[in-house]
Amino acid sequence: MAGIYIHIPFCRKACHYCDFHFSTTLNLVDEVVEAIIVEAERMKSYADWPIETIYFGGGTPSLLSNVQLQKIIEVLYQHYHIKKHVEFTIEANPDDLTEDKISFYANVGINRMSIGTQSFSDKILTYLNRSHSAAQTTKAVELCHQYGITNLSLDLIYGIPGQSANDWQQELAQIIALTPTHISCYALTIEPNTVFGNWSRKGKLVKVKDEVVESNYLRMVDFFKQNGYEHYEVSNFAKPGFISKHNSAYWQQTSYLGLGPGAHSFNGLSRHFNVTSNPKYIKKIKEHENTFATEELTKNELVTEYILTRVRTYWGLDFSEMSKLFNFKLTEHQLSFIYNLVANNLASFDNNKLFLNSRGFFISDTIVIELIPQV
Ligand SMILES: C[S@@+](CC[C@H](N)C(=O)[O-])C[C@H]1O[C@@H](n2cnc3c(N)ncnc32)[C@H](O)[C@@H]1O
Ligand code: SF4
Repeated sequence: MAGIYIHIPFCRKACHYCDFHFSTTLNLVDEVVEAIIVEAERMKSYADWPIETIYFGGGTPSLLSNVQLQKIIEVLYQHYHIKKHVEFTIEANPDDLTEDKISFYANVGINRMSIGTQSFSDKILTYLNRSHSAAQTTKAVELCHQYGITNLSLDLIYGIPGQSANDWQQELAQIIALTPTHISCYALTIEPNTVFGNWSRKGKLVKVKDEVVESNYLRMVDFFKQNGYEHYEVSNFAKPGFISKHNSAYWQQTSYLGLGPGAHSFNGLSRHFNVTSNPKYIKKIKEHENTFATEELTKNELVTEYILTRVRTYWGLDFSEMSKLFNFKLTEHQLSFIYNLVANNLASFDNNKLFLNSRGFFISDTIVIELIPQV
């Protein structure tokens, strides 16, 4: 299942926790859009596959004007084999979602939206430096339903300093009440090059204890399962039939093309990394230079990627498949590590596949270290 990802590297405001690639200086938006259009024309032979998913991510793709978005969509349909029933997602921030914008999205074939919710508490939204209120999120969801876009993903952040167990329970109840088909929930990570990173160094922000974050995580997993969501990836939940095809493709090592500053592409064997700086990206396009660096993946890197992604999903880590694909054999040490995971009720091992349970998912980053090949 191949896809196209388009990175829109702009935001109205920098959230205090985020170190994704974006700029809050919006004077280059038009030039980046024009450059993405040229890149899409140039890369058509790279992605000569039937395209089953299109994903506008960011940054904040919803800050594009309808005209800018339409221009990019037109060039995609002109040069790529877009399948009829393509999953077509845009990430949107609630404050951008006017009636005009949502009806435009529905008209151009966008059939899935990922709305940056983060919290239903205005106090927390202000603390995170989000650009919207909780009421704007609720209103945006209602408008999307009104215009027929009902396949909605909402995301939340937990483990926020000052957020009590009761606050978290209320967030969970509020998100369910909006009946999203898909939910992504991330534990707050304190990234060094952010305002929160700076506050943390100065002692103005004290990280929430791991035990508290874990208990919020386990509470959330149980609650979403009770409400009919499948827990298909560490941080992702979906109603049956609504797993994100786009993200699943990443987790199953399928090919994709990434367009825009900082985007990357994968064709099964190598990865392209686009330059992240917006001015450099524009310049390279104008001067007919490559926008990307290429990295051929070694067998060890392919195995590592397979492990890193599969272990985080409910499809599990399939050692028979790994043996066929990469001639991979478990070492004695890894086998005993797996037996220990099972004995400690963190995973199950069935039919030569390893499946982490919720407690295992929570510490998956440390588990994979023991499983990836050492060089
Ligand atoms: C990078 S944003 C892009 C979409 C959109 N701009 C938004 O804010 O929802 C994608 C997701 O990553 C989450 N995210 C970014 N940095 C994070 C961090 N340090 N800790 C937890 N979640 C984070 C965001 O909150 C959001 O849900
Ligand atoms: S979380 Fe989203 S809106 Fe906030 S800075 Fe990051 S990309 Fe921009």
